[in-house]
Amino acid sequence: MTIKFLLNGETVETQVTDPTVTLLDWLRDTRKLTGTKEGCNEGDCGACSVMVTDDLGVRALNACILFLPQLNGKAVRTVEGIAAPDGTLHPVQDAMVRHHGSQCGFCTPGFITTMAANHLNNTTDHATALAGNLCRCTGYAPILRAAKDAEDKPVPAHFKTDSSHLFAKSIPGEPASQAGAEPPSWVQPKTADALADWYTANPTGTLIAGATDIGLWVTKQHRDLGSVAFLNACEDLKGITESELSLRIGAMTTLAELEPVMDRLHPSFGDMIRRYGSAQVRAAATVGGNICNGSPIGDASPALIALDATLQLRCGPRTRTIPIADFFIDYGKQNRAAGEFLEAITIPKQPDRLKCYKLSKRFDQDISAVCACFWVDVDRALVTNARLAFGGMAGTPKRAFHAEAALMGQPFTQETLAAAMKALSDDFTPLDDMRASAAYRMEAAQNLLLRYWLEDQGHATQVRA
Ligand SMILES: Cc1cc2nc3c(=O)[nH]c(=O)nc-3n(C[C@H](O)[C@H](O)[C@H](O)COP(=O)(O)OP(=O)(O)OC[C@H]3O[C@@H](n4cnc5c(N)ncnc54)[C@H](O)[C@@H]3O)c2cc1C
Ligand code: FES
Ligand code: FES
Repeated sequence: MTIKFLLNGETVETQVTDPTVTLLDWLRDTRKLTGTKEGCNEGDCGACSVMVTDDLGVRALNACILFLPQLNGKAVRTVEGIAAPDGTLHPVQDAMVRHHGSQCGFCTPGFITTMAANHLNNTTDHATALAGNLCRCTGYAPILRAAKDAEDKPVPAHFKTDSSHLFAKSIPGEPASQAGAEPPSWVQPKTADALADWYTANPTGTLIAGATDIGLWVTKQHRDLGSVAFLNACEDLKGITESELSLRIGAMTTLAELEPVMDRLHPSFGDMIRRYGSAQVRAAATVGGNICNGSPIGDASPALIALDATLQLRCGPRTRTIPIADFFIDYGKQNRAAGEFLEAITIPKQPDRLKCYKLSKRFDQDISAVCACFWVDVDRALVTNARLAFGGMAGTPKRAFHAEAALMGQPFTQETLAAAMKALSDDFTPLDDMRASAAYRMEAAQNLLLRYWLEDQGHATQVRA
């Protein structure tokens, strides 16, 4: 199938026979645009960052875990397309030169494209926005100074071609008509209905959402994905709809889109999202992908369990709704039939009693050793409802039913907390692994419960500014 997108302002039409060729490999091998660097090839270092513009706006994304069909109908700008055609440097390039923001230069193209996207979006929290770009030799202070310096400079005129381009909605994609075709084949359905038809006919096919997990199946595990469906053109799987009673989050909503909504409704969840991967990862990763990968250390699932969310699953013409807590059956096993996919997540509107705690070795860009999300309701000093959800403590994200039972109906006091902390050892037998020991996990989980209570009593517990 043929895809069409803008590359550094020029229209590219290319036949894609292997849907798992990454943008990074295509840029470097086919187009000889070698400014975009390969560092880790797994989304961790930002050396491969490019600017991508579509109807979500402008974002920096990691080209090493982006498959070519995901670019269909979008605009891509690599480091070669950042300076003006007459060679005039972009304000962030000019500032990087003046502030000595580059030494060996390997990371610099990724920094420049990310900084140019941030500059266009008027982003001023540079430490957060650049946390996904690693530099081994310059040190971050000059780079952050350069980003600050460029803030007020105008966006170059040649960037305007990207935003005036017609995106996916107006570019006719290929119809989702390849059901039953011999693998490898790929489709890019435009609606959930078309996806349901394809998935019913190809139940062993692979669904690709943001590809921040699946990208690594290809670049690190060299897996053959067989027939694949890209979900990124399904408009009805995207976005957040808010009503008086609930919040409906389309499965294809990115973590970056969820962040401002959670900042407003459940700020502790918003804070945790800012520590999820990096800006590049959050701009690609979807909420649906984070749930459906079934990972015991995914960060969204414990928060959604604590918020009592439900999942809307679709198989052919039928949909069913289940509590998210019932979705995770065992390690690698979810309550999802062949040919069934996630359409949306619904969170009931509720008072904000949620606290999310993510423990990892690094503050930014690290997978949780333990993720704890708690929602405890107290009425007239007694606990009337408790949802205590953990990641990293078992083979799935899981509620701590014994600890919840120790809280229910009891006065919300330190003595009750002590009983709930003890009961956690009936709920979990955590594992030792490279992220944490079992003993650390258990002690940390117990202490996080105490921390929730201390914060509820008005004590300051934050040790980081
Ligand atoms: C550098 C890096 C840092 C990361 N940091 C974090 C982190 O801090 N916290 C964290 O939780 N995760 C993290 N991740 C993991 C990853 O980003 C998330 O799991 C992400 O949310 C997956 O979403 P996706 O859209 O990219 O899914 P994909 O990779 O496209 O898919 C993941 C799985 O879900 C399935 N799937 C996707 N959508 C659907 C659907 N609608 N219905 C049925 N199945 C579906 C796919 O078939 C696949 O099995 C990180 C990843 C990277 C590369
Ligand atoms: S090469 Fe490291 S993020 Fe892509
Ligand atoms: S300048 Fe060498 S890695 Fe950043």
